[in-house]
Formats: sequence, structure tokens, C-alpha cells
Amino acid sequence: MSCHAEQELSTPEMLQGHIELHHHLFGYLKSMALRCAADLGVPSAIHRRGGAATISDIAADTGVHLAKLPHLRRIMRVLTGAGIFAANDEPSSPADQDGDAAGETVYTLTPPSRLLVGDHATCNMAPMMRFLAAHGGVSAWEMTKRDSSYSRALNEACAGDTSFVMDIAVREGGDVFRGLSSLVDVGGGHGAAAMAIARAFPHIKCSVLDLPQAISEAPADGTVNFVAGNMFEYIPPANAVFLKVYIYSLIHNYFLK
Ligand SMILES: C[S@@+](CC[C@H](N)C(=O)[O-])C[C@H]1O[C@@H](n2cnc3c(N)ncnc32)[C@H](O)[C@@H]1O
Repeated sequence: MSCHAEQELSTPEMLQGHIELHHHLFGYLKSMALRCAADLGVPSAIHRRGGAATISDIAADTGVHLAKLPHLRRIMRVLTGAGIFAANDEPSSPADQDGDAAGETVYTLTPPSRLLVGDHATCNMAPMMRFLAAHGGVSAWEMTKRDSSYSRALNEACAGDTSFVMDIAVREGGDVFRGLSSLVDVGGGHGAAAMAIARAFPHIKCSVLDLPQAISEAPADGTVNFVAGNMFEYIPPANAVFLKVYIYSLIHNYFLK
């Protein structure tokens, strides 16, 4: 099969196109490396070391066996190239077979990896990342009915992401909620968004509507009212309906059917 592109593209354009295709084809390696680093607790390990750690520090603190140091180093290099971590090399050190200055590269956190520090931090994105890495590409809503652990993982992932974003949204754009006395978060999962709104505006009566499998696991502490149901059949009355992020695609798909 001949390559017709040769007649239309210059050699530099062909090479650049080839490189770009490879970037996309192997882009999943970054996601996999990111998941490995998060599962190992690398961001927290670096944070505990005062924000800077060598590969040996990271291995010691995350329980990675010395025999696996080259693998860990490769993961850190991929993620450093992707901007998840930053690295300072000591130029005078001899390079090892992976091309790193052995034991001397000091890894530091960048804003994306700082968001992955800690198991229960308010802005902890790790559950979302684990969820996407494990279940990306699979239709989510049917799965939540069949598999309660999947449903729990989805809602934990959303809650971690939502708490982080909503604290900022309420702080920076809270004016949109002024004047409301009631609000219903449709497809609100475990209520992270509604809780952030209720905390910032205690006079707003906040409810969350979601499917029974999500509501049954929701942390009902009285801050918001949870209602189990299908939004295409019933939405509890309120001054305002709140829809956040992922739910748009759901509605879009529903009306396409
Ligand atoms: C990806 S989560 C987003 C949760 C929340 N809006 C957020 O941004 O954190 C989507 C939620 O929509 C819910 N959902 C899906 N179909 C629904 C339906 N027909 N009626 C009500 N909720 C639904 C799911 O159970 C899930 O909790």
C-alpha cells in the first residue's frame, strides 16, 4: 500500500504527524503511570518528605522493592514529562542505564500532583483518577445497577472532585445562589455539591435527587434531603434545579434516543 500523504506533505510534516500519532496511541501510558503513582501514594510520600524526594526516598516510603527501582524511575520520568511531577537533576552525578543521574534526581510536586496528596483531603482527586483508570470507556449507568462496588466507586470519585470544585465555585461565583430558598441537585450523587451550597447558604433548603442505588449509600447527616428517583420521571419541586458536569451527557444521550 503506497503512502499518498507523501505527495501532499513535506518530510518534516510527515515526521511531525507520525510523532503526534504516537503521542495519541501511547497516551494511555500516562494514565497508567498516573494510576500507579497514585495507588502507591507517591504524591503523599513526596509531601511527607517536605515536598522533595529522591527515587530511593519514594521507594522506601511507598514499599517498592529495590529490584523495582528502575520501573519506578521510568514511571516518574513519564509523569515528570507530563508535568505531574517536577525533577531537579544533579548534573555531576553519573547517569545510570535509564539515563537518570542515579539516586540524585529530586522529585517535587506540581499543582496536579499536589491535588493527589492524602487519602481524605478535601481536594483529593485520587478516587476520580482511580475510577477513570479502572472503568473508562464502559457505560456507567447500567453498571451502577448491577455492581454496588462500581456504584460506590463512581460516587466516591464524583464526591472528591465535586467537593473540590464546589468550594471554589461557591467562593468565586456564589452570587448565583443568592435569593434562592430551595434547590434540588439532580443526579447529585452523594450530595457533595448540595452540601457545599448548604454550608455556604444555610437558609437554602437543598435536596439531592439520584437513582436508588446511589441514594442508598449517601451519607445522610441531615445537611441535605436525599430523594431516590429517576429524573426522567420526577424532579422534586424547588426554586432552582442544579445540574453538574457529567449529567449533561446523560441528558444529551437520553434525548438522542
Ligand atoms: C457522574 S455522577 C455526577 C454526580 C454529581 N452531579 C457530581 O457532579 O458530582 C452522575 C450521577 O447521575 C446519576 N443518575 C444517572 N441517571 C440518573 C437518572 N435517570 N435520574 C437521577 N440520577 C441519575 C448517577 O446515579 C450519578 O450519581
